[in-house]
Amino acid sequence: MNIAIDGPAGAGKSTVAQRVARQLEYVYIDTGAMYRALAWAVLQKQLPISDENAVSELLKNNKIGLVRQAGQQRVFWNEIDVTDQIRSPEVSQSASIVASYGSVREQMLVLQRELAKQGNVVMDGRDIGTHVLPDAKVKIFLTASSRERAERRWRELREKGTETDLAELQKEIEERDRRDTQREVAPLRQADDAVLVDTTGMTIDQVVDHILQICERTGESAK
Ligand code: CDP
Ligand code: CDP
Repeated sequence: MNIAIDGPAGAGKSTVAQRVARQLEYVYIDTGAMYRALAWAVLQKQLPISDENAVSELLKNNKIGLVRQAGQQRVFWNEIDVTDQIRSPEVSQSASIVASYGSVREQMLVLQRELAKQGNVVMDGRDIGTHVLPDAKVKIFLTASSRERAERRWRELREKGTETDLAELQKEIEERDRRDTQREVAPLRQADDAVLVDTTGMTIDQVVDHILQICERTGESAK
């Protein structure tokens, strides 16, 4: 059984998907990290991000790795561990630009389906239920108000010692959501057969419990 979790930035996808995967002893796959790693490399090499061909060739000629180490997913660009570097606001915005290119998404789709072949995966992203794993048994569309999503990111950054401007964060999140929902190829959209979970005002525990219940019901009905 595969589980697809999609939704806008800061909805809680990676936190919740990791917890669900741990509970069910499934493999967690963060597809956003793959777009982030590519964006990181584009910035690092100072390639013009508007050049789809150059970005696509860069992906073709290099390797992105998702590796489990000490119970955590680490992200590699070839041999370089970029796990921490890919979380900057600059990489976030650039990731949503490279993710709008059809030739990039085509390659990512192949890589992601390959990763899902191991079975029993929880995969999170924007187009998992609609394109990457259209046959996933459980599909969740996780959301929350943009204000709450910005507040979550703000708290997360503050806990890491970085003070940011909440209004600015909300603006950045809304800009990325707009780009992700309006692009032509595989835009962010709730799959017709996905369950909508609005997490506004919900704690992480409540969201995880709710999703585990949905998985349990689906598992039961599949028997
Ligand atoms: O992966 P995505 O961008 O959807 O969100 P995330 O990185 O999992 O979550 C963003 C932040 O919101 C993290 O700091 C989570 O701990 C927090 N969060 C929360 O406070 N309440 C929730 N129900 C879900 C996530
Ligand atoms: O954690 P957060 O929701 O902020 O972002 P992410 O999941 O790490 O994804 C970063 C960017 O990659 C998104 O803004 C999307 O543009 C892109 N992405 C995508 O297009 N398709 C996916 N399956 C995953 C991410």
